[in-house]
Amino acid sequence: MNISSPKVNVAWRFGLTASLFTTSLLMLQGCNKGTSPTGSSVASNPSGSSAASGAPAGDIKLGFLVKQPEEPWFQNEWKFADQAASKYKFSLIKIGAPDGEKALSAIDNLAAQGAQGFVICTPDVKLGPAIVAKAQADNLKVFTVDDRFVGTGGKSMNVPYMGISAREIGKNVGKALLAEMKKRGWKTSEVGVCAMTFEELDTARERTDGAIEALTAGGFPQGQIYKGAQKTSDTPGGFDAANIVLTQHGNVKKWLVLGMNDEAVLGAVRAMEGSGLGAADVIGIGIGGSTGVEDFKKAKPTGFFGSMLISPRRHGFETTEMLYKWVKDGKEPPKETFTTGQLITRDNYKEKMKAEGLDN
Ligand code: GLA
Repeated sequence: MNISSPKVNVAWRFGLTASLFTTSLLMLQGCNKGTSPTGSSVASNPSGSSAASGAPAGDIKLGFLVKQPEEPWFQNEWKFADQAASKYKFSLIKIGAPDGEKALSAIDNLAAQGAQGFVICTPDVKLGPAIVAKAQADNLKVFTVDDRFVGTGGKSMNVPYMGISAREIGKNVGKALLAEMKKRGWKTSEVGVCAMTFEELDTARERTDGAIEALTAGGFPQGQIYKGAQKTSDTPGGFDAANIVLTQHGNVKKWLVLGMNDEAVLGAVRAMEGSGLGAADVIGIGIGGSTGVEDFKKAKPTGFFGSMLISPRRHGFETTEMLYKWVKDGKEPPKETFTTGQLITRDNYKEKMKAEGLDN
């Protein structure tokens, strides 16, 4: 195994620099949109009907803050939030908020522009109480998406939330991994599971725990499941975590790979390629149906076998729609909405994604 292959490292450094660059661009873009008087979708005050909260439909401005604006998942959420803004004719202000400072200043920025609320995937769930306090001080409504705020005593906060059915989707990853392993006729004794974990984030831990639970319930030996803790929830985070697992278990020749999202699994798949393990030796299944899909488009299969396609349409459009109705009509959104996932592979991703309104 070759964890310090210069080729791989250079590629990653470049990838990281590129992604930081893109992040800054997107943040700037977000801020520009934020400071532009129109936002990204312009309200044309259609009916002028008065809202329960006193906001005429055309004057409604909502924010959409995301922790990782460079990730396709969040770009897709924004895309669908824009569609809600066009449908209901409110202004949408999209801001990249990769850390606490940016998130809190973005909230002030929204208030200064006269926004009435925002949807947020927070960069850190422990910021929940600070975000809620600032939103209250600025008189903004808050709807959380993807990552749930954690309040005092480690408990989820009572703020409207839409997230994926993390454990269920995780279990389906585990079942699909086992099914593909059996289909290929791999002997369990020569297979290891490389589980990329990010346990400080509730939705991530539920996903990977669910996958491991289904694997063991399906007879896979617990002792052959190796966890690697990610420092960050992105592809470089998966890459580094997998390299540690590979170093510790160099004798394993066939791998099942799971993680919290496509990025985690993709990072591990790239790390395995660096060790000479490819599509014939690796079955990786992500969660997202976003970044990983790029591997399906490659002429030759890679170790990224599949992904659980989740719905940026629901997380982008419906969250913003619910927030809009809350602001306009005083209709409180449900406290919890959980969305589902479905397996996509090279064979069916095009049609499944099309049905979700995602182009390829
Ligand atoms: C988290 C992850 C994202 C995506 C969403 C889906 O925020 O970081 O990659 O999986 O959950 O809810």
